[in-house]
Amino acid sequence: MLILGIETSCDETSASLVKDGREILSSVILSQDALHRNFGGVVPEIASRAHLESIIGVIDNALTGAKMQLPEIDAIAVAHTPGLIGALLIGVTAAKTLCMVLNKPFIAVDHLHAHIYANNLEHDDIPYPAVSLVVSGGHTTLFLSESETKHVPLGWTIDDAAGEAFDKVSKILGLGYPGGPIIDKLARRGNHHAVTFPRAYLEKDSLDFSFSGLKTAVLYHCRGQDSQKTDTKAPFDQKAADIAASFQEAVVDVLVDKTTLAAKMYNVRGILTGGGVAANSRLRQRLKDASKELSIPVYCPAIRLCTDNAAMVAGLAYKKYLPGDIAGLDIEVIP
Ligand code: KG4
Ligand code: ZN
Repeated sequence: MLILGIETSCDETSASLVKDGREILSSVILSQDALHRNFGGVVPEIASRAHLESIIGVIDNALTGAKMQLPEIDAIAVAHTPGLIGALLIGVTAAKTLCMVLNKPFIAVDHLHAHIYANNLEHDDIPYPAVSLVVSGGHTTLFLSESETKHVPLGWTIDDAAGEAFDKVSKILGLGYPGGPIIDKLARRGNHHAVTFPRAYLEKDSLDFSFSGLKTAVLYHCRGQDSQKTDTKAPFDQKAADIAASFQEAVVDVLVDKTTLAAKMYNVRGILTGGGVAANSRLRQRLKDASKELSIPVYCPAIRLCTDNAAMVAGLAYKKYLPGDIAGLDIEVIP
């Protein structure tokens, strides 16, 4: 069974051909990073226009890469929620149009569930129930995953997403966009004990997140009264590396502690991660440590499958197609 997946929820235009929910025949990801870099974040209107300009070429390249033609495809899948409304609309409209013209089944996929499915593209022995942590530029959500397709939300961010905090801190430090990979790299040279930034755990046993206070604390530390506390004799590069490492440690502490808490509360058999921030090397290391402590496996997708991609969409779509979960062409996008 061959599925064409399409993903345009944020700032990557992606199309992929996946066989039987597992074998990636092609995966084309066109990043818009260069278009948004000057703004330090994704500009929704620019994202929608860029998707519109490139979607047909990206689908074409995915077909060519897999040496396939449109009539050979069995179904078409697209992420229809959540994301930027104008961006989602481009992918959904392209998918619906292809389904209508080719008379193929249309499968609508939740973008966050697809991030979790990125693990299933590489492993077929994932134990359920599992706790899944989706951490991206737009979302920070913990799910109780009962199967590859059934995910019950347990908690989410009440303000900024973790990836958004990485991007904003990078901007405060005068570094580039997207901030996550830059901070990750810089933090390796820094001391994570250098600055004590706040960790927001919210009320006891809460599985919700909050990162806006941490972002503000970094801003005050760099520009405000608190800036005196940094070792003024250290060269700028080292100061920035120490701030990056200390900030990253604060984010990772909260992510790992809440994921571990959820795993214990729901007595799960495994932990899954997904989304751009799941590419973070410190988070991956700390989750590995947590895996040993809890004696359950922790899965992190390959780096190229952490950030937005259509292979995870096409993969999950196969698992929805099997029990007949086909969408009508009147389905809406939900931001
Ligand atoms: O999943 P994704 O591609 O898009 C959304 O659905 O939002 O995630 C993008 C986010 C950005 O905020 C980016 O800074 C962050 O993932 N990111 C990272 C790393 N690589 C990407 N954050 C921390 N460490 C990384 N290595
Ligand atoms: Zn995403």
